[in-house]
Amino acid sequence: MISLRLSELVRRSAPRYTSYPTTPHFGAEVGPQDYDGWLRGLAGSNVSASLYLHVPFCRSICHYCACATKAARRDEPIVAFADRLRREIELVADRAGPLRVGQIHWGGGTPNLLPPDVFDSLVTELCDRFDVASEAEHAIELDPRWVTRDSARRLKASGVTRASLGVQDFDDDVQRAIGRAQPFAVVRSAVAALRAAGVSGLNLDLIYGLPRQTMRSIRDTARLAASLEADRISLFGYAHVPWFRANQRLIDEGELPDSPSRFDLAETARETLLAAGYGAVGIDHFAKPGDPLARAAQDGRLRRNFQGYVADRADVLIGLGPSAVGRLREGYAQNAADAAGWARAIDAGRFATAKGRALTAEDRLRSDVIEEVMCGFAVDLDAVCRRHSADPSIFAQDLAKLRSLAEQGFVRVDGSRVAILRDGPALARIVASAFDAYLGAGARHSLVV
Ligand SMILES: C[S@@+](CC[C@H](N)C(=O)[O-])C[C@H]1O[C@@H](n2cnc3c(N)ncnc32)[C@H](O)[C@@H]1O
Ligand code: SF4
Repeated sequence: MISLRLSELVRRSAPRYTSYPTTPHFGAEVGPQDYDGWLRGLAGSNVSASLYLHVPFCRSICHYCACATKAARRDEPIVAFADRLRREIELVADRAGPLRVGQIHWGGGTPNLLPPDVFDSLVTELCDRFDVASEAEHAIELDPRWVTRDSARRLKASGVTRASLGVQDFDDDVQRAIGRAQPFAVVRSAVAALRAAGVSGLNLDLIYGLPRQTMRSIRDTARLAASLEADRISLFGYAHVPWFRANQRLIDEGELPDSPSRFDLAETARETLLAAGYGAVGIDHFAKPGDPLARAAQDGRLRRNFQGYVADRADVLIGLGPSAVGRLREGYAQNAADAAGWARAIDAGRFATAKGRALTAEDRLRSDVIEEVMCGFAVDLDAVCRRHSADPSIFAQDLAKLRSLAEQGFVRVDGSRVAILRDGPALARIVASAFDAYLGAGARHSLVV
């Protein structure tokens, strides 16, 4: 059961820190020409890159979804999109040259709506244009309702090595409340099809904080998910942001659990996954022992970016498709979120960069501090400052913000070392936000639990 003081903290909102500065602080000062110049700066260098490709289509929109996507009942708009994505790949490769690529990630939306031959030709384009390592991880987010034995075989043939399946919750009543009918048998067959095809890296996405969830229903969902033996499971807190995603107005807010109940739901799911043999990774991931993500967490090599927690240490991230964000050496660049705006730019033969953020030396310093807190629930400020040749006194006021958490026994501040002592998944975003110089400048965030 949640303690009294913790129950106050879990009502707080804070960014999820998949970047720093966070996306609400990106602005129009970074445009297509800046991005063009940043990419040209990579040509001839030996940097390693991760690629993120955003496919903004689904057959229908789930009530709870906060992703940048829209409904497409037919394949035509998806095929037309793929043609533009190919042109965007060419634009990037023309500027940056044949970058070394160690990681490809297809997100969405529902990338498995790309017809298999179209998907395969895009992968061929990536391999022709970039130096894709033979051991590269090639991951894709899949809606299990559209996975068949044949589509799984085609994904494997195109080189996919890891698939993330959107599960959310297995309970019928919860599924009705969130507009996503998806019985356990559907997910079980998708998992079996992927394994039979040889796609052996599997993630399942679960969400707590959904309408009508109970301790019993979430325990059953977590047990069923664990029974599928995926090597990784994500447990996201439901982000209810109806001012940002109109489809969420279909969620009956009267059926949503309150903050203390959300905490208890998260704890129940966590305990169930830990009891099933998974290890906790960061604030919301679980992995089987020996999994590369679990090993990266143990060795202090875990990283956090727009895909969540990753083990890969690429120098730059290239985002392709509407709303995709890239991080280059100079800073962040985000594509136009509206598919029509993105398409107009690509048709005109230019980048679709709509906003971004050039990083200052202080941004880089704070970004590293925040990433360490989010990944390992601890940071040594002096050590980070040494890497950046910075003066640790810059953090004096930030450390003062942690005093009351330290007095309550949640955090230990020992000289320049900050460590979260308990309830790490609930507290990491709050502690990280103490080092965020932009916090409070107008943006609304989701609950920390
Ligand atoms: C792009 S979707 C997954 C792929 C596929 N479209 C599907 O739904 O099966 C990525 C994940 O984001 C998570 N997600 C979507 N909306 C969310 C929200 N409002 N709060 C928390 N997680 C959310 C879900 O767990 C979902 O599986
Ligand atoms: S959860 Fe997945 S399938 Fe549902 S609308 Fe979002 S991206 Fe599409």
